Amino acid sequence: MKTEHSVFFKNSADMDEISSESIDLIVTSPPYPMIEMWDEIFISENTEIKKLIEEQNGFKAFKLMHQELNKIWGECSRVIKKGGIICINIGDATRKIGNIFRLYPNHVEIANYFHENGYIVLPSILWRKPTNSPTKFMGSGMIPSNAYITLEHEYILIFRKGKKKRKFQPKSQKRYNSAYFWEERNRWFSDIWSDIKGESQSLENYNNLRERSAAFPIELPYRLINMFSIYGDNILDPFWGTGTTSIAAMISARNSYGYEKISDFSEVFNNNIKNIKEITRTINLSRLTNHISFVKKYIKEKEIKYSSIKYKFPVVTTQEKNFLLYSIDNVQKSGNSYKINHREYEYEYEYEVENRKKLIQSRLIP
Ligand SMILES: C[S@@+](CC[C@H](N)C(=O)[O-])C[C@H]1O[C@@H](n2cnc3c(N)ncnc32)[C@H](O)[C@@H]1O
Repeated sequence: MKTEHSVFFKNSADMDEISSESIDLIVTSPPYPMIEMWDEIFISENTEIKKLIEEQNGFKAFKLMHQELNKIWGECSRVIKKGGIICINIGDATRKIGNIFRLYPNHVEIANYFHENGYIVLPSILWRKPTNSPTKFMGSGMIPSNAYITLEHEYILIFRKGKKKRKFQPKSQKRYNSAYFWEERNRWFSDIWSDIKGESQSLENYNNLRERSAAFPIELPYRLINMFSIYGDNILDPFWGTGTTSIAAMISARNSYGYEKISDFSEVFNNNIKNIKEITRTINLSRLTNHISFVKKYIKEKEIKYSSIKYKFPVVTTQEKNFLLYSIDNVQKSGNSYKINHREYEYEYEYEVENRKKLIQSRLIP
């Protein structure tokens, strides 16, 4: 199968290159209002924000920053299909302005926007983002009552445009091939993710640009793409940064579009793309070997009735039988567009041979 990926280095308030109602899933993380590193980007859109911060009017500055984000959410509403899903990774901000330290609840502003604009607000995910700083506890140390809670979590807010998606063919092969494992479902669809470990090992922090971009770990868009879209779907990230969402889309054999104001970040992306075949192989292999480890434990307690048609290993439910992963054959780059050829990922299930006797005993193979 083939997928295509394009990035446009321009403001996403105007995504002319994308036709209306053509995107299946948006996965993104905007600049966080009231986090100092992003002040400049908001001020470049509205200079009033600079004045308000100088006047110590944090609340009004916060509101105006969200007004800027709302322009992009409005454009997202145009391009997303009916029934399409929008996943927004956002953290709240804490900041001292003048003499007052307070919370700026970004997740509330964004949830309200989508609520008020007719979206169906779905249950969200909290993911833990540990801070290592020795000064992470703010306030008065060990004496009550003026210390503050340290924020070590972010939100993934999830919204749907109208009713549930779409008329799938009753036995849409693509959709069944896009299945995830039962045990992945149990982790991925829980409301707290505590197993995401900050920066991904497999993506490089080229010239520190990745750090400057506040990139999210690849595991985050990868999960969301696999949870809320199927092979060949169109994924958009209007705040593309270093393109982590596009990398996750490439690995997951979906098409992608990205918009980013700072073109320097393409350097990080192109550097990571060099290893895309290996990254894909590593992620595929780790999913399959994790599944086999899970099966080994699971069959000690319960019987497993089904097996994967392609990979032959046991699976817990009939919905996982058509589970299929893709590897990447080659990437053709032309300007800021990338065409990818994917091939079915092959995997030798040696465990079956090793444990044939045991498996027969446990009635996995009749
Ligand atoms: C939090 S970062 C996203 C990081 C990204 N998820 C990654 O993994 O690299 C937000 C990005 O949005 C970009 N940005 C902010 N406002 C924008 C706008 N109006 N249009 C396009 N990009 C914008 C910033 O330059 C920044 O790179």
